Amino acid sequence: MSRRALAYLDDELAALDERQRRRARHPASGEGLLDLTSNDYLGYAAARPVGDARAGAGASRLISGTHGEHAALEREVAGWLRVEDALVFASGYQANLGLVSALAGPGDLVVSDALNHASLIDGCRLSRARVIVTPHLDVAAVARALAAPASGRRFVVTEGYFSMDGDAPDLRALRAICDDAGAALLVDDAHAIGVFGPEGRGACAAAGVVPDALVGTFGKALGGQGAFVAGSAALVDWLFNRARSVVFSTGLSPALASHASRMLALARADEPARQRLARLSRRLRAGLFELGLEVPAASSGPIVPVMVGTEGRALALAARLREAGVRVAPIRPPTVPEGTCRLRLTLHAGLTDDDVERALLALRSAA
Ligand SMILES: Cc1ncc(COP(=O)(O)O)c(C=O)c1O
Repeated sequence: MSRRALAYLDDELAALDERQRRRARHPASGEGLLDLTSNDYLGYAAARPVGDARAGAGASRLISGTHGEHAALEREVAGWLRVEDALVFASGYQANLGLVSALAGPGDLVVSDALNHASLIDGCRLSRARVIVTPHLDVAAVARALAAPASGRRFVVTEGYFSMDGDAPDLRALRAICDDAGAALLVDDAHAIGVFGPEGRGACAAAGVVPDALVGTFGKALGGQGAFVAGSAALVDWLFNRARSVVFSTGLSPALASHASRMLALARADEPARQRLARLSRRLRAGLFELGLEVPAASSGPIVPVMVGTEGRALALAARLREAGVRVAPIRPPTVPEGTCRLRLTLHAGLTDDDVERALLALRSAA
C-alpha cells in the first residue's frame, strides 16, 4: 500500500486544525449529561428492535426483491400521509439525492432555498439542471425565479422545517406559486415528520398543503434509520426505476423497516409527546429571551438556535456547557454560513421541565 499518494492529507488536516474545523469521533452522550444534540424529537431512539425480521435486504430491491417489511412500511406511510404511494430509502440523504436527480435533468430548472440541506444541494448538482438559489424563506424570490423563461421542467425544493434555523417556509404561498408556474413542489420534511401536524404528519399537513413529493426520515423523530418519499403512484414508480440511490444501493434493512413501522404507529398516536415538546420549547425560548440570548425571531418548535457569531465563541460556550453537564452542538461552517455560528439546542419529549431549567441555568453561567 502506497502511503505517499495520500500524504497531502496530513497538510489538509493540519489546515483544518488551524481553523478549528477538524472533527474527531467523540463518543455519543454518556450517563449524567443532559443531551440537547439529537434529532430524537419524540424520545424513541433508545427503543430496541423486536421481532425476527432479517437484518439484511441482501441486495438492491431491483435485484433481490421487496421484503414484506418494506411493502408493509410503504403501505403504512402512504396511508398515514394520505397519498397514493411511498418508497423507502436507506437514509434521508439517499432519498433527497435520488429524488431530485431522478426528477430534474439538463435543461430543467430547480429553485432551491439557500439553507437547504446538503443532500438536496447534492441532488441538485447530480441532476445537472440549472439551479437558482433563492434567499432563505424568500417567497417573492421563488416567484421571480420561476418567472424566468425556461423550456424544461421546473421544480421548487425546500425543507418544511429548517434544521439549523428552526424556521419554516410559507408552504401555502409556495404551493400557489408552483401551481401558477406549473412547477412541482418538493418538500423535505425530515425535521417536521412526527413533530408537527395531525398525527405527526409534518409541516405540509399542518399547513394543509399537498406537495408533489414529500420526504421524511425514520432517523429523527421516529428514532430509527431509513427514509421515504411519498406522493403519487407514478412518482414512486419512477423513483423505483430511476433514483440511483435506490437502484444501486442495498435495500433498507428489513429489521429496521419493521422497527420503523412500529415507531410510526407509536408516533401517530403520540399527541401528548408533541404537546409536551411544544411546551418545553416555549419555556426554553422564554428563558433564553430573559437571559438576553439571541434566538432568531422566526424560529419556533424543538430546534432552538442560539446565535453566537464566531466559531471560537461557539466552541468555548459548548465546552463550558459540557463542563456544567449539558451537551449542545456548536454549529459552524460548512454547516452554516461564516459568521452565523450558533449553539443548536434540540429538545425531545423525554425531557422534563427541570431539565429545561437546568439547561437555562447552565447557559446563564456559561454565556
Ligand atoms: C433536512 C434534512 N434532510 C435530510 C437529512 C438526511 O437524513 P438522514 O439522516 O436520514 O440521512 C437530514 C439530516 O441528516 C436533514 O437535516
